[in-house]
Parts: sequence; structure tokens; C-alpha cells
Amino acid sequence: MDRNDIWHYQRTDLAQKYVEILNIGLSNALALFAPRRMGKTEFLRKDLTPAAAAAGYWVIYVSLWEVKGDPGQALIKEIQAREQSFFRTVVQKVRTGPKLKVGAGFMGAEGSLTVGGEEDKKISSQDLIELGEVMRHLAEGKRPVLLLIDEVQTLADEPRYGALVAALRSALDKYKDQIKVIFTGSSQEGLRQMFNKEKAPLYQFSQQLLFPLMDRPFVKHLLGTYGKITGNKLDENRAWQAFEELDRVPLYFRSLLEKMVLTGSQDFDLSLQEVRENIESAANYPEKWKSFSPMDKAVLLQIVESGKVYGKEHRANMDHTLGISTGTTKISNVQQSIRRLMGQGVIASSGGSGSYRIEDPTFLAWIRKNKKA
Ligand SMILES: Nc1ncnc2c1ncn2[C@@H]1O[C@H](COP(=O)(O)OP(=O)(O)O)[C@@H](O)[C@H]1O
Ligand SMILES: [Mg+2]
Repeated sequence: MDRNDIWHYQRTDLAQKYVEILNIGLSNALALFAPRRMGKTEFLRKDLTPAAAAAGYWVIYVSLWEVKGDPGQALIKEIQAREQSFFRTVVQKVRTGPKLKVGAGFMGAEGSLTVGGEEDKKISSQDLIELGEVMRHLAEGKRPVLLLIDEVQTLADEPRYGALVAALRSALDKYKDQIKVIFTGSSQEGLRQMFNKEKAPLYQFSQQLLFPLMDRPFVKHLLGTYGKITGNKLDENRAWQAFEELDRVPLYFRSLLEKMVLTGSQDFDLSLQEVRENIESAANYPEKWKSFSPMDKAVLLQIVESGKVYGKEHRANMDHTLGISTGTTKISNVQQSIRRLMGQGVIASSGGSGSYRIEDPTFLAWIRKNKKA
């Protein structure tokens, strides 16, 4: 538990619940979904890690969020580094056995596969074999292991990471009694690609759960912290309302109260407005918007409008937006844009049957405000 961060609201019960699910073998793998900035990482690090450690686990946390370089490599390296640190504390430096030769294992014939695009980084078959080795060694350790893989959808790009994810899965299957895993993801589409598509490497591998939204006790806790610092008491109902106005995003509500501490203002309306301005300038939506092609913009506007994009009337709207004659935009044009925008994590399908939505609610609000008449 982190006693230094007085703003942190502990979700001990939730952490306990997940550890319990893993302990009793109800599931060996969980996938938690919540959009960005909803508190997944903070939960993993400050609540779940201590709870699992207290329950006897060795905990390995790997973040794949905005990893510099290659996320696949980062995953392997982090697991290796942690494994060494666990065993070093138990038995001093025993692992000096010969390295495995390349060529064995399921990757054998292919040798290595290219990942990482521009920089031509490679995950070699040797890397995958080492991953298997490390997992085996972990499974033989004195304690059960809990692997936390944050923002796993980064690996959803199958052609690049298929073999890695498959290697991970096969190790997790093999050692499922000793090694448990919790994935998080903030892209619904990304997770769907990894876990729900029939040919996906983690198909039906884990129990998928919605990571619950912060509730009233979170707001109370933050108000308590505010009170301790300033000696002032803010109205709880107004604070809850402000939290809702900020789409119940914990990051934004915390910024709001921190701002009120700094400025000494107790005016919610004014502070909310300032926080919104800060959020927008930090996200730099105008730049982001500029980076889309005219066609992508037209598709995004149509999604904001109705979520539907393929119908004749929807495409006619796009023609209108683009200033071209009605009937010009074809279904295939729309499909291309949809694929691109999904790949970038800007949109996700919502409820199937050709319906889409913007993934980031703050970006959605920005488009509504700035790009619609
Ligand atoms: N339990 C919490 N208590 C207090 N603040 C929190 C809590 N969870 C999240 N936050 C705030 O929200 C921010 C974003 O949370 P984070 O865990 O990074 O979100 P995610 O990983 O879902 O994108 C944190 O940096 C923190 O300011
Ligand atoms: Mg995170």
C-alpha cells in the first residue's frame, strides 16, 4: 500500500476479489477493460500488486503503454529481469546453465520474424525460447507468480506479434497452476481482436471483466484529502456532480481538486472550466484533427452523428461534407477509413452490425463542440 500518496483512493476489496478469483482457480487469466485514464495502472500498481504479494505471489508488472522501441521485446526483457531478481533473493546466482540452441521449438523453421516496422527490430526464435525457459523457471519457483500485462492490446497487431503472443499463451497454458495473469486494455476493439476473434492467439483464453467505474467513495476520499490540506469542506453533492460532468474520469477529478488546492478557489464552475481547458490543450486535439485525411474526417463526423456509416444516406452526408457530388463515396472508401481509424485506436465497433463509436470520450466531446454546426 502506498502511504505516501494521500490522494490515492485504495480499492482493497476489488483487489482482494481478483486475487480470490485467481486463488480458487475460478480462472487463471483475467482481462480487465476500461477506457484510458480510468485508473487501471494505478490500481495494478498500488492496490493489486500489494494485495497479491500479501497473498504470497511474486508479481511481475509489464506496461506496454507507449513503450519506446518494441513492446514485444519489452515484455520479454521485463519478465526476464524480474525472474532474475526473484531468484537472486532466494538462492544466490544459480542460473549458469548452457543457453538453448536456436532452431528448437515451434518457431524453429522460421528462424526469426520481423517486428517493429521502421527500425526492423526482430524477435528471434531465440527470444521466444528464452521466454519459454524463463516461464518454466518461474513455474518451478517457490511461489506462485502473477503476471500483470498493462495495455495488452498493443500486441493485437497479429502479423507482428502473433508468434510472441502464441508463445506466451502456450507457456501460460502449460504452467497455469503456478503462473496467473491479469491483462488490462483500454481499446475495446484491440481486446476484441486479441481475445474474441476465432483465430486470435488468446481466443477464449481469459475471463473478460469490465473494470468498474469509480464511485461515490472515491469522490469522498478525494474531498477528505482536500479537506486535510486546506482545512476547507466542499459540498459533496456538488463534487459528485462535477465528477459526473468530467465523465467520471478519476484523472480529471483529481486535477480539479488539486487545482482548487492551488488556487484556493472553492468555485466548482470556474475550476471545472479551467480543468477542461487544460485537458484540451494537453491532448492537442486540433493537431490530431489536422492529421486525418478529408475522408477520415468525414467518416468521423458521420460516426459522431449517428454511429452508422455504410448506408446510402450516410455516405451522402460524407459527400456533402467533402463537397463532392452525391453518390461519389463508395462503401469500399468508407471501409478503408474505418480500418485505418480502428488500427489507430480512434474508433471501435459498437454492438456490431456496422456501428462505430469514438473511443476517447474527451475527443468525442471536442469534435462535437468544434466540428459540428
Ligand atoms: N485510485 C485512485 N486514487 C486516486 N487517483 C487515481 C486513482 N486511480 C487513478 N487516479 C488518477 O487517475 C490518473 C490516471 O489513472 P491511470 O491508472 O493511469 O489510468 P489508466 O491506466 O486506466 O489509463 C492517475 O494518474 C491518478 O491521477
Ligand atoms: Mg494505464
